[in-house]
Formats: sequence, structure tokens, C-alpha cells
Amino acid sequence: MMENEEPPKERVVKPQEALEGIEAGKGFQERLIHKVTSSELWRSVIRHGSPALRRNRALTVISNFFLHLHPLSIPRRALAFAHTWCMGGITFLLFLVLTVSGVLLMFYYVPEVGRAYEDMKDLQFAVSFGMLMRNLHRWSAHAMVVAVILHMMRVFYSGAYKPPRQFNWVIGVSLLVLTLLLSFTGYLLPWDQLSLWAITVGANMAGATPLVGYQGPFHELLGARVDNDVRFLLLGGTLVGQNALLRFYVLHCIVLPLVAVLGMAIHFWRVRKDGGISKPL
Ligand code: HEM
Repeated sequence: MMENEEPPKERVVKPQEALEGIEAGKGFQERLIHKVTSSELWRSVIRHGSPALRRNRALTVISNFFLHLHPLSIPRRALAFAHTWCMGGITFLLFLVLTVSGVLLMFYYVPEVGRAYEDMKDLQFAVSFGMLMRNLHRWSAHAMVVAVILHMMRVFYSGAYKPPRQFNWVIGVSLLVLTLLLSFTGYLLPWDQLSLWAITVGANMAGATPLVGYQGPFHELLGARVDNDVRFLLLGGTLVGQNALLRFYVLHCIVLPLVAVLGMAIHFWRVRKDGGISKPL
């Protein structure tokens, strides 16, 4: 540089230009991710940043429909396998398996006395994966009954039914009854000898209910007869026939699962409202 020559002026970089420079320096992939995640569409669905920071983790849980069931934090001890045996979660998982496999079975099964048994046999021997579907449904149903009883035992033995959880215990008892009713109504659907006679025995037990069963104590007080009592209501007749099959089908596939879903929603909501899962004794 000559002595009287002026030094070249440093160009002042404006903030906007700086940002664009940084943007230009990024790889295509990063710019694409940035463009997508800063778009209005993305931000209207995902309303928080990456859950790497504690604050964002909390926001993720609060604002996500599927995660909001979980508490923000939970004592490590309450999650110990030895405390819950995971039995409530396993019961729920089995319910989900039953719902999916049950819907698949509904594509092939018609609740009509002339067809039901053949449909079950077709499912087993003619439909692709039919045997798997049927057995998955059947074994999951048995397992759900076992799991719900184990869950109830663990709640009892860990004293988790005590205040403030006594209402959730009551909801739980309704869920147990619903699980048993789902099993009972499903029992008739294969329409084989076992189904027919099992439901005949079960319905006769209903006929012996006090007051409302025609064979029950005090039935004369309400005038319960064989053609107007609770057994008649259940079967849609005096014998197990077409009406009974249709009633059990509707109860098994629509009414009871819907009530159970509602009950479970309240059950899980109460677990949260009662301060999360109880701590081990
Ligand atoms: C369809 C049936 C049921 C499902 C899917 C279900 C699911 C659950 C789940 C996921 C939990 C969280 C803690 C855990 O996994 O142990 C829970 C807690 C609880 N359940 Fe159930 N449950 C069912 C039936 C019952 C029954 C039959 C009872 C009792 C009669 C019951 C009473 C309770 C109580 C009191 C809690 C709170 C326990 C605690 O805070 O430690 N539940 N249930």
C-alpha cells in the first residue's frame, strides 16, 4: 500500500444481510428443515420447540393430545415394576388388541343363527390369517380378565384404594363388571354347543335375580313372569335364539365397548387428578 493511499473501507454488514449469509451457509437439508418447521402450517400443529430443554418438555406434554395424559413429572419409585406390575397398562393394551382384532372379525361374521357357526369355521379354516385373528381375540379376552383381576389385587394390596382414590376404585369396579360382561356376551357369538348352554345357564341365573327375575325371591311383588322379567329382557325371548344372538352381538360390539372406553377415560383422568399413581407403601 502507498503511503498516502486510504485504507479500504470495511463494508458494514446489516443484520438482515448477516442472517441471509448464515442461511446461505447452511446445507440444503438444514434450510429445508428450517423452512418447514417455521411455516405457519407446522407451527399451527407443533406449537413448541424440540423437547430438549426442560421447559419445552413440559410444553410438549401439556399441548400434545396424546401426551397430555402423562403427568409432567412422576416419582421414580411410583414407576417401579414391583409396585404396579404394569397390570393397568397391560389391561388397557389388551383392550386395544381386542378392539382391533374384533373389528377385523366383524368383517367376516354375521350374527344370524343359520350362519354364525359356519362363519366362525370359515374364519378358522378359509379366511387368510382368520385363525390368527380369532385366536388373538380369544386369548386376549382371557388374558384381559386375568390382568384386570391382578390389577385389582395390586391396587388392593398396595392400599391404593384409600382416599383420595376411593372414587377411582368404584370406577374400577364398573370396569371389572364391564370386562366380565364383554366376556359373557362374546361367549354366545360362536353359536356352538358350549355357547348355547353356557348362555342358557347364565340367563337362568339372571332369571333368579331377586324382585326382577321370574324365579327370584319376591318376584311376585313386581309381577315378574317368564315373559316380562330381566331374563326375557336379556334374551329377547324365553329361550336362547336369534333375538338373543342379535342382542348379545350389539352389546358385545357396540354398547359395552363404548361404555368401557368412557369408563377408562374417566379412570385415567382420575389417576391424574388424584396426584398420579400412588407411591409404594
Ligand atoms: C378395564 C379395566 C381397567 C383398566 C384398563 C385400568 C387401567 C389402569 C391404569 C393404566 C392405572 C395406572 C396405574 C397402574 O397401571 O396400576 C390404573 C390405576 C388404578 N386402577 Fe385401574 N384399570 C382397570 C380396572 C380397575 C379395577 C377393576 C379396579 C379396582 C376395582 C381399578 C382401580 C384402580 C385404582 C384405585 C387406580 C389408582 C392406583 C394408584 O394410584 O396406585 N382399576 N388403572
